[in-house]
Amino acid sequence: MRQTSAIHCRSLILQVFLMSETILPAIASASQEAAIVAALGKRSVVLVGMMGAGKSTIGRRMATRLRLPFVDADNEIEAAAGMSIPDIFEVHGEPHFRDGEARVIARLLDSGPILLATGGGAFLREETRQRIRDKAISLWLKADADVILRRVRRRENRPLLKTADPAATIARLIEARHPFYEQTDITIDSRDVPHEKIVEESIVALHEHLFRPHTASAITEPTGDPLSPHL
Ligand code: S3P
Repeated sequence: MRQTSAIHCRSLILQVFLMSETILPAIASASQEAAIVAALGKRSVVLVGMMGAGKSTIGRRMATRLRLPFVDADNEIEAAAGMSIPDIFEVHGEPHFRDGEARVIARLLDSGPILLATGGGAFLREETRQRIRDKAISLWLKADADVILRRVRRRENRPLLKTADPAATIARLIEARHPFYEQTDITIDSRDVPHEKIVEESIVALHEHLFRPHTASAITEPTGDPLSPHL
């Protein structure tokens, strides 16, 4: 009898150990996610970064984890205009696209909390950066030129990259845009690892950002012309 209960006890300990290895981390992370959503209130999470940085892919997965609606600003712009982004660029030009982009993002930020993936050029407009600062937590998915080039080569839908030398264009865009992207609240290194790893890092960083004591930091505006068509 005593031997049976000792075996019972050992198997119970083993079960608890196995549970802690499998179930407990998921529980901990679910409570972290719930805490993030509670701390956000009406604020959204906005993903920023170059084309091909993974904003839509990572954003969709983050939204699932946080149980927030995922919205892709580019899709919303296309729906509002009733035409594709390459067609908007071709028919109306980039400045018209940028105005529409700013309007659509402003509207989406009023409907928070959402997980919003923005197009690569959106954060360059001062008015949009200010709105994002007021109504969201911004996260820059920072990818290097090689990663971007490899990813954007798979699709033909980026009008800004229809140039004789897309690699040089990407290098130029990176140089012009990084000073703006650096103003986001959080930076995550977007590299070629499984998507879930980037999602995990983003959620942990978001939690850290929302729950660490803040010190006000001065924002230095970069110089240069953010509205220049090919930035
Ligand atoms: C742009 C990026 C695109 C799209 C448009 C312009 C940019 O979005 O908004 O082609 O200026 O970098 P993605 O960053 O989602 O590719």
